[in-house]
Amino acid sequence: MRVILYTGKGGVGKTSIAAATAIKCAELGYKTLLASADSAHSLGDSLDMALSSEPGLVLDNLYAQEIDATHELRKLWGTVKSYLTDILPKRYVNDISADELLVFPGLEELLNLSKMFNYYNNSDYDLIVIDCAPTGETLAMLSIPEMLCWWLDRIIEVRSTAVIVAGRISELPKTALRIINDMERVCRYLEKMRQVLTNRDSTSIRIVTNPERMAVMETRRSFSYLSMCDFSVDAIMVNKVIPDAVTDNYFRNWRDIQKACIEMISESFEPVPIYHAPWFDTETVGIDMHRRMAAELFRDEDPADIKCNIRTYEVVKSTSGYTLCVYLPFADVNDLSIDQKGDDIIVRSGGMTRSFLLPKLLAGMSVSGVKYEEDRLRVGFIRG
Ligand SMILES: Nc1ncnc2c1ncn2[C@@H]1O[C@H](COP(=O)(O)OP(=O)(O)OP(=O)(O)O)[C@@H](O)[C@H]1O
Ligand SMILES: [Mg+2]
Repeated sequence: MRVILYTGKGGVGKTSIAAATAIKCAELGYKTLLASADSAHSLGDSLDMALSSEPGLVLDNLYAQEIDATHELRKLWGTVKSYLTDILPKRYVNDISADELLVFPGLEELLNLSKMFNYYNNSDYDLIVIDCAPTGETLAMLSIPEMLCWWLDRIIEVRSTAVIVAGRISELPKTALRIINDMERVCRYLEKMRQVLTNRDSTSIRIVTNPERMAVMETRRSFSYLSMCDFSVDAIMVNKVIPDAVTDNYFRNWRDIQKACIEMISESFEPVPIYHAPWFDTETVGIDMHRRMAAELFRDEDPADIKCNIRTYEVVKSTSGYTLCVYLPFADVNDLSIDQKGDDIIVRSGGMTRSFLLPKLLAGMSVSGVKYEEDRLRVGFIRG
C-alpha cells in the first residue's frame, strides 16, 4: 500500500495536483482513494462533482471522499459519550454535542489521520492520495501522533507511579483503571500511526509550490521541518510556471522572478526530484484538465513510484551538540566552500551551489566543525 500526501502554501495547487496524481494512477491500474483532509474542502469543486464523507466511485479504479471530522466523531459519539459519563457528571455530558467536542485542539486532525490509517490497515486500496490543508495545519496533523503519545505516556507514568505509591491498585476506581488501560492502547495505536507516516517505503510527502519567493521560502521551511521529523519528502511539485510561449510584455518581469525562483528551488532541494506544471490558460477543474496536468507533471513516469528514498537532510544528536548531515553526492572535497548567512547555509563545490535552511533547533548555535564523508556533508553545532 502506498500513501502520498500533498501539502504546501495556500492556493499553490495542492488539490489540483493531488487529483491529477490520483487520476493518472487509477488509469495505470492502481485501485486509488483520493481523500481530502482539508476541512475547507474543495476537492469536489476541483473534480467538478459532489463528493461525500465516504468514498464514492469517480472513475474506474478511482474513489474520492472529503473526510469529515464531524461525521467521524458522530459515528464514535456513543463510545466517547460513555467515557465522558464515567468522568463527568451526566448533566454536563448530556449538554455536549459531538460537534462541540471538535473544538479540542488536534482532535479534528487526529480523526482525519485515523480515517486514513484505517484504510491503510484494511488494505482496501493500492494507493491513497491525500489532499492536505495548507502547510501549518498539515504539520500540526502529522505531529499529532507523536505529541499525543508523549503526553499520554507521561500521564500513564504518573498514574502508575501513584498506584504503586498508594499500593492499593484494587481500590482504584474501576473507571480509572479502564482509562489507564485504554490510554495505553491509544498510545500503541498512535505509535503505529507514526510508524506508517514515517515509513519511507510506503509513505511520501510531496510539497507543492509556485515559483514565487514567498512560496519557495515556505517550502524550504516545511522541507526542513519534515526532514527533521523523519518524514520522507520524495518530490517537490512546482506549479503555475509561465510557459515559454507567453511573450507578453506584462509577464516579462514575472518570468524573470519565476526563473530565479526555479533556480533557488533546484539549489535548495536537489537531489529530491522536482516536477513542473505550466500555468494553464484555464482553471484546473474537471477530469480532463487533471489528466492534462498529470501528463505535464509526470510525462511517462508512474506517479505512484517512490521518487526519492534518501535521507537528504537530517539532524542527529552528538555528544557535544548536534550534527547536520546533508546528502551531497559528487561534491568536490578539494573545492568545497561553506558560508552561513543568517539561517542559511550555502555550500559551493565546483560549479554546484546548494543552500539549506537551518532548522530552528540549530539557529543561534555555533559551528564546531565540518566534515565530508560517505557523500554527506556533516556540520557540527554546539551551544554558545
Ligand atoms: N497549473 C495551473 N494552471 C491554472 N490554474 C491552476 C493551476 N493549478 C491550480 N490552478 C487553479 O488555482 C486555484 C487554486 O488551486 P488549488 O485549489 O488546487 O490550490 P490549493 O493549494 O489546493 O488551494 P487551498 O490552499 O485553498 O486548498 C484553483 O482555481 C485552480 O483551478
Ligand atoms: Mg486545496
